[in-house]
Amino acid sequence: MQVLVTKDYAAMSRAAADIFKEHLKNHPQTVLGLATGSTPLGMYEWLIKYHQDGLDFSQVTTFNLDEYIGLAGDHPASYRYFMEEHLFGHVNVPKERIFIPNGMAEDPEAECRAYDELIRKLGGIDLQVLGIGVNGHIGFNEPGTPFEATTHVAELTASTREANARFFASIDEVPTHAISMGIKSIMHARRIVLLANGEHKAEAVAAAVKGPVTPDLPASVLQLHPDVTFVVDEAAGRLL
Ligand code: GLP
Repeated sequence: MQVLVTKDYAAMSRAAADIFKEHLKNHPQTVLGLATGSTPLGMYEWLIKYHQDGLDFSQVTTFNLDEYIGLAGDHPASYRYFMEEHLFGHVNVPKERIFIPNGMAEDPEAECRAYDELIRKLGGIDLQVLGIGVNGHIGFNEPGTPFEATTHVAELTASTREANARFFASIDEVPTHAISMGIKSIMHARRIVLLANGEHKAEAVAAAVKGPVTPDLPASVLQLHPDVTFVVDEAAGRLL
């Protein structure tokens, strides 16, 4: 595992975007794993700038980590909407190669199985970006999720619903469940870049990097992955 501590959020975002840019230049036909949340926003802004300067996404396939159950893609708090607004609306990934779990699927379990199958069929994820929850979750793999879990229906913890309530009118509107790529699905990615910024992530980051590898802190599983880079700002790296 490599750990890169940057001065601040802006530097974290730039460093992460540069990893993606280099990867894309060398592998234009790549499969990217993408994340939502506030953390990768700065990185997406850089990728949009790089695209305006010529970085090409026309042969890229993307899989997002997760989606809320019960929110349609046109709901402003859905992750599909988020991705459209913050990345896909501004770069040239072909629409038919953008994959995000369908939170409105009639049979969510079947949707989960189909999602993993599709990732496999399209060659697996080459480069995956992750954020981290204050409780150490990745995607919506909350503490206690078995490392063997593939894409599944996840029940959100109270702390995660509270943390994400800022994207909704009130906490009551935050969905209770989501479809999330599982830890096993994430660990299949060939390369993983985890981003974290801010004081409130410091404990989760330290536990993920140097704590015991345990389902109680889902991100700690990354210690077992052969090619992981943590890019964190000084505040999030404070306890390293
Ligand atoms: C959500 C997402 C995660 C994300 C985490 C942290 O729960 N499902 O993928 O990493 O929140 O979010 P933020 O980056 O806003 O702190």
